[in-house]
Amino acid sequence: MQRATTIAGVREVLKPLRAAGKRIGFVPTMGYLHAGHMSLVERCVAENDVSVASIFVNPAQFGPNMDLDRYPRDPEGDGAKLAAAGVDLCFEPAVEEIYPEGFGTWVEVDKVTEGMDGASRPGYFRGICTVVLKLFEIVRPDAAYFGEKDLQQAVTVRRMIEDLHLEIDLSVLPTVREPDGLAMSSRNAYLNDEDRAVAPLLHEALTGAAARFREGERSADALVAHVREVLARAPAIAVDYISVVDLRDMQPVESIDGDACIALAVDLHGTRLIDNIILRDG
Ligand code: PAF
Repeated sequence: MQRATTIAGVREVLKPLRAAGKRIGFVPTMGYLHAGHMSLVERCVAENDVSVASIFVNPAQFGPNMDLDRYPRDPEGDGAKLAAAGVDLCFEPAVEEIYPEGFGTWVEVDKVTEGMDGASRPGYFRGICTVVLKLFEIVRPDAAYFGEKDLQQAVTVRRMIEDLHLEIDLSVLPTVREPDGLAMSSRNAYLNDEDRAVAPLLHEALTGAAARFREGERSADALVAHVREVLARAPAIAVDYISVVDLRDMQPVESIDGDACIALAVDLHGTRLIDNIILRDG
């Protein structure tokens, strides 16, 4: 696996491959890779001639009180995992490479970013869309891979790809979970033993709501009430939001008619955890 820290370095490696007609797949990450990331990487390697991953903890998507400084990092371990999975190029830029002095162009996607994480974390999706578009422009992939765990992010990136006519096939792959149901996340590393023990309640609450949906419940309020009730079993869980939204545009729905999802974000002693479950008829 080659490693590049500069945009010029990435372009030097990829230009001849693109000219030779190779299909390029791309997995953007913030590193500290877990099995969820690796499922994206494995799919990317399987479906493309050339696979590129990026590791960049993007300051633009962290609010002033967020965990930018303590976000977990493991460049050596990440490099070994990516190389073993068959990635051809890993791009690991410094912050100044992506946001040089004088940088002043931002990408904003409307509507799908209004609620949930967009409402709780001002500037979050602007930071994500800006860096993802920049990474797309640097790598110029034919295909890109995102995880369903960050569903609002995936829907936002899909909107941006469509709106800006980017020629990128987007794949959104299922959330990978620990055996007890907790969605894999780099932030799980922050959880102490007690918080780790209650964290699976998120998935339990969501699967309980999905079971009620399958039994015929269509009221968003009823499903949210169920999720809230299960989470209330652990007083340490502070709910930020529990939302039932339309899968296409992330707008809240009162009664589910079509593909939807229940998404939630909670705080567990300073650690933000998100999860969701898709609700589909049939
Ligand atoms: O999902 C993430 O890890 C990040 O939001 C992404 C897509 C790499 C952009 O920084």
